[in-house]
Amino acid sequence: MTTLIINIKELLQIRDISIDKVSGNDMKLLPTIKNAFVLIEDDVIIDFGEMQDLPKTQTDKQIDATGKMVLPSWCDSHTHIVYAGNREQEFVDRINGLSYEEIANRGGGILNSAKTLQETSENDLYNQSIPRVKEVMKLGTGAIEIKSGYGLTTEAELKMLRVAKRIEKEFPILVKTTFLGAHALPLAYKNRKDDYLDLVINDMLPKVAQEQLADYIDVFCEKGYFSLEDTEHILKAGKTYNLIPKIHVNQFNAFGGVALGVKHKALSVDHLEELNQEDITALQDSNTIPVALPSCSYFLSIPYTPARQLIDAGLPLALATDYNPGSTPSGNMNFVVSTACIKMKMTPEEAINAATINGAYAMGLSNECGSITKGKKANLIITKEITSYGFLPYAFGNNHIDSIILSGKVLT
Ligand code: NIG
Ligand code: FE
Repeated sequence: MTTLIINIKELLQIRDISIDKVSGNDMKLLPTIKNAFVLIEDDVIIDFGEMQDLPKTQTDKQIDATGKMVLPSWCDSHTHIVYAGNREQEFVDRINGLSYEEIANRGGGILNSAKTLQETSENDLYNQSIPRVKEVMKLGTGAIEIKSGYGLTTEAELKMLRVAKRIEKEFPILVKTTFLGAHALPLAYKNRKDDYLDLVINDMLPKVAQEQLADYIDVFCEKGYFSLEDTEHILKAGKTYNLIPKIHVNQFNAFGGVALGVKHKALSVDHLEELNQEDITALQDSNTIPVALPSCSYFLSIPYTPARQLIDAGLPLALATDYNPGSTPSGNMNFVVSTACIKMKMTPEEAINAATINGAYAMGLSNECGSITKGKKANLIITKEITSYGFLPYAFGNNHIDSIILSGKVLT
């Protein structure tokens, strides 16, 4: 089945396959073609170019994109989209003056979500998660990373990852999964952290590996959660099962998590709302990509990741949602891109690079998605008629998507 998109006002993010991410000043450049076409065969982009060079081929389906832009689908490299229930009450508690930390210390927060999830069947968890998956697909996400971490028992962690794997099988969206057993210390292990680490390392991890449920390993490296020492312990254990680290660091405190991630060849270090010069130095000359989660900063009213400092230091940066019930109940990458421009002073070019090719890199998918490249997956966003691509982040909060193509098919 061949699909041809013609008369595209501007085709964004055209790249050679050799580009796996963009860094520093290169993030300011977004290669485009005006008055373009894209040719798709089954689920793969097989050709693109200027309309004047359109080859004469028979196609099964033709889409006229006059006045519209086409870009690669968003690559959301950090989510906790599989969860049970919600935490609206904590949201109200925060409005009324409690802090995120105070709520967590009362047994709310992650432990609250874990309790609900443990009481939810695998099928029910799947049924609660799929509307969110469908929602983000409609919002233009074509590749997503999904973490465990709201289970905190072996059974519940496996349940979360099985649901994530089922999503991978059943939806036309690329999925990578991450084991986050060390997300919070369960109440049953209060004052017995070593016993919980033992459970994560010697019970959960072997089972996750045996069932091949995860590509990556994550730890919430933060004061009151897991220390540098705990994190190192878990990352080393993960390595014995070939799980590459992608870790939560520097959300509230900067104390060396970034350097630790780099030392263990983390694919990404995520959050970085707090950042110092040592963190930046650690990232330079590494293959570890920093990931910013502006919707989390927005929702919790915490600082935004200093994108300018990172990019101006020559580093790459990816943007992701962090979709989860506690700190970011939103999976909208369009909002992320807008907020990155508005609050983090990223240019539209930088934000689009960060949400496409760099997001793909942050989940090890640079060869498959994140740019308009021959041979990559045909996961595309077709915008409504807009004046320029800068309009996407500029007119924030509005939906500028006309239609979505996932795995070569128009999403209905
Ligand atoms: O990335 N920071 C740790 N984990 C999640 C949120 C946890 C929660 O509040 O449920 C995050 O923000
Ligand atoms: Fe997160």
